[in-house]
Amino acid sequence: MKKSKKQARIAQEALSIAPEHILEVRDLKVDIKVDDYTLNAVRGVSFSMKKGETLGLVGESGCGKSVTSKAVMGINPDNCSARGQILYRRKSGEIMDLVQLEQDGPTYRAIRGAEMAMIFQEPMTSFSPLYTIGNQLSEIILLHEPATTKEQARMRVLEMLEKVGIANPEKRIDQYPHEFSGGMLQRALIAMMLCCNPDFLIADEPTTALDVTIQAQILDLMKLLQKEFGMSILFITHDLGTVASMCDNVAVMYLGEIVEYGSVHQIFHNPQHPYTKGLLRSLPKMNQSREEKLYVIDGIVPLPVNMPPCCGFYDRCEKCVKGVCDCQAIREYTVEPGHFVRCVMMEQRG
Ligand SMILES: Nc1ncnc2c1ncn2[C@@H]1O[C@H](COP(=O)(O)OP(=O)(O)OP(=O)(O)O)[C@@H](O)[C@H]1O
Ligand SMILES: [Mg+2]
Repeated sequence: MKKSKKQARIAQEALSIAPEHILEVRDLKVDIKVDDYTLNAVRGVSFSMKKGETLGLVGESGCGKSVTSKAVMGINPDNCSARGQILYRRKSGEIMDLVQLEQDGPTYRAIRGAEMAMIFQEPMTSFSPLYTIGNQLSEIILLHEPATTKEQARMRVLEMLEKVGIANPEKRIDQYPHEFSGGMLQRALIAMMLCCNPDFLIADEPTTALDVTIQAQILDLMKLLQKEFGMSILFITHDLGTVASMCDNVAVMYLGEIVEYGSVHQIFHNPQHPYTKGLLRSLPKMNQSREEKLYVIDGIVPLPVNMPPCCGFYDRCEKCVKGVCDCQAIREYTVEPGHFVRCVMMEQRG
């Protein structure tokens, strides 16, 4: 059906995002069908990211961080359904609503890998044990750039392996994943994602499986490469310490919602939501005595089934106002420019 001029203009307007943004997620909801019930894993999440920005997505296990990021990447399994908008600025400048794209369709496949890449917690699962590291990295380049020859792809892989600090790349390129240590594999994975020079990277707990010294090296490497390649990074972690060193802004997620959002400085120095305060209190302190126990937020993240429209955190919250937090929808309050919180405590402050 031919669209009228007015309809076409409205459709175009709906797909515009701020010029400095690469991504705008608007009211994203993801439901997951499990046997005879439905999980509301993501419940109306909105955030945006500037080009070159690193946004930390933090929260306890089961809060919906991975489901959110997989919705952006278009790799959630078939039992998941997404609503809302994920507006993404492609390398060509075109804005696309990724929610409307078929996950396995040609457009999404062209975006994944070449424009948007993801690195996971466990690098071993991202490589096939049957092919050499060099073959697997070259294949990504050849897939997305059909005009590139095998020889050119191999040269680029060598260059990338060197860039991510893998010593002796001429030898390593022909080795299999089992011949790499965990830290080296994570470096190879970063090289794989750099091969196509993506604008946008999702790093889902990229260093959790590594020992502390290697973690620090990989994080330094990511920061260095981000500067060089100018990528935007959605950095998912449990670890607020890592957020402080890696991110510009932080979104704190609880039970499928962003409960607080702000710059690293705002979140660390002026946290407002009792959940954010609890996460920060549970970080070990330099001057903490050995006898002093670490603070723990009571209770666990429940399964998000039949979620009422109230604060998800109320039954674990020390500040819960009965009759308010447990029964009414909580709106977003502005603490200061760029700092938002979903908590009625803000209402009481006036
Ligand atoms: N494929 C799936 N099938 C069923 N439930 C799922 C699936 N994926 C996620 N969930 C559920 O959705 C909710 C959000 O999960 P998600 O993996 O996004 O959490 P997370 O914040 O990434 O946690 P973690 O820090 O442990 O990685 C959880 O309740 C989880 O059990
Ligand atoms: Mg996860």
